[in-house]
Amino acid sequence: MNWGALDRYAKSLIKEAAQHIKHSFFTEIEISAKSSANDLVTNIDHEIEQFFIKRIRRDFPEHRIMGEEGFGDDIQSLDGFIWFLDPIDGTMNFVHQKRNFAISLGIYIDGIGMLGYVYDVMADDLYSAMKDEGAFLNDIRLPSLEDTTIEQAIIGVNASWVAPNRYVETAPMIDLVTKCRGTRSYGSAALELTHVAAGRVDAYMSMRLSPWDVAGGIIIANEVGAISSTLTGVRPGLLQQETFVVANKSIHTQLLEEFIVLKK
Ligand code: IPD
Ligand code: CA
Ligand code: CA
Ligand code: CA
Repeated sequence: MNWGALDRYAKSLIKEAAQHIKHSFFTEIEISAKSSANDLVTNIDHEIEQFFIKRIRRDFPEHRIMGEEGFGDDIQSLDGFIWFLDPIDGTMNFVHQKRNFAISLGIYIDGIGMLGYVYDVMADDLYSAMKDEGAFLNDIRLPSLEDTTIEQAIIGVNASWVAPNRYVETAPMIDLVTKCRGTRSYGSAALELTHVAAGRVDAYMSMRLSPWDVAGGIIIANEVGAISSTLTGVRPGLLQQETFVVANKSIHTQLLEEFIVLKK
């Protein structure tokens, strides 16, 4: 495989898709609810996913695609080439804010992340990475992350972590948000991964994410030395929804051992 050519191909596809998204602001967007009233999807999510799938199937017929909106393949194993696609990550932001959403794409071979992309469409910020070749923001290399401490860290958590929930004990989380320098929540898992990769936030965690939310961002974060895992500390499996944490490597273990205490 010519990875440089595949990288250029993926980037041009993403930029073309982004143009469609921007043009959609001049049309009437159809919004509907999926699993619950707050789980939004639009005709643009569907159209963008179909755009990618049509192109990828035409140009790489032997590759498989896992997309959020279900137009891709039914993926039960990580064998071969798989493209993990979230056509719009942060649909709620797309609908309500018309910003702070991203296209997320990860290209894997036999479960190994090779090429990762997160495109912040409205900011025109393209984060990309190639395995062992580094991570980039608009083709400028992102430096490796420097060590930090919980006391100096900005932690990407939303309010559900300190409210009664099914997954974690709230007392250690309250301890974490009290001890750390500050907290942030942006509403797009893919963008939050890039904030960790760029060193703007030192960790991000979620109680439930899907493979397409994280597949691209994990590769980018990995290239600057951040660690991604489930809340039990194992590598994300990329075949189903899972808990997720990505963090500067100097605080990842401490987060899991001291602050993220899973309910029995
Ligand atoms: C969602 C966003 C959000 C996260 C949700 C995801 P979507 O993706 O990444 O930040 O908290 O769990 O489902 O549905 O907007 O693509
Ligand atoms: Ca969604
Ligand atoms: Ca998503
Ligand atoms: Ca989505």
